[in-house]
Amino acid sequence: MSVHPQTEVRLNINDIVSKKGKEQVPCLTAYDYTMATWCDRGGADLILVGDSAANVVFGETTTLPITLDTMILISKAVMRGTKRAVVVLDLPFMSYQVSPEDAVRNAGRAVKESGVLAVKLEGGAEFADTVKAITRASIPVMAHIGLMPQSALKFGKFRTFGKTPEEQTYLRESALRLQDAGAFAVVLECVYAPFAAELTQELFIPTIGIGSGVDVDGQILVTHDLLGMTVGKAPKFAQPVAQLGESATEGVRAYVARTLSRTGI
Ligand code: KIV
Repeated sequence: MSVHPQTEVRLNINDIVSKKGKEQVPCLTAYDYTMATWCDRGGADLILVGDSAANVVFGETTTLPITLDTMILISKAVMRGTKRAVVVLDLPFMSYQVSPEDAVRNAGRAVKESGVLAVKLEGGAEFADTVKAITRASIPVMAHIGLMPQSALKFGKFRTFGKTPEEQTYLRESALRLQDAGAFAVVLECVYAPFAAELTQELFIPTIGIGSGVDVDGQILVTHDLLGMTVGKAPKFAQPVAQLGESATEGVRAYVARTLSRTGI
């Protein structure tokens, strides 16, 4: 039985925001029609078409190569697979960093062409003006701070953020400025859990954690990590609930065996 009865009515941004302090917000990623359908039926409130598609769909080692055209194409498929969840398109590298004007143009294209309800962008306080410009164009924005895979060239190794007083000052200022700029939620990726809990208390918008402990307003995971479909190593915090990758390999082995032995059609 699903947690949420399957409904034809799509949640909206206010439904997500109004859960703050009352109910956790379960979020997942999806990049195609089929996976989006399973995530939606399973009760994910928000489905992110993450730029992690670069890794899990296209086999790239970073998220940098994926284009806005590809993000729009796969977001359309996710929209077709969902009836209830709020679908958010992750603005890819270089689609919003050049200028707020460019960001508004690209966010507008994303919403118009794919039908998603909102966009997400990675960046701290220095992107508050960009968030403000996009929200001024009536496009809801989800912010993303802490570990930001689009900044891999700058930060190098993936690690936990917000352990030192300096990082805490920067993250706090960023979260508050992004909230003031109109972000409806903020993803905290690999933020030191006790500090993620503090930020969650200080903000009036929901914090959506990934590898940031349980004292946040919701959780997001790459669905492939959750379902045991990741090729290679999944992050430790993902705690897979299934091993679909292994099941798929087993299934293919069975098919190959029955084909070779002429025991199946
Ligand atoms: O691209 C992505 O999948 C993300 C989530 C992990 C938050 O940004």
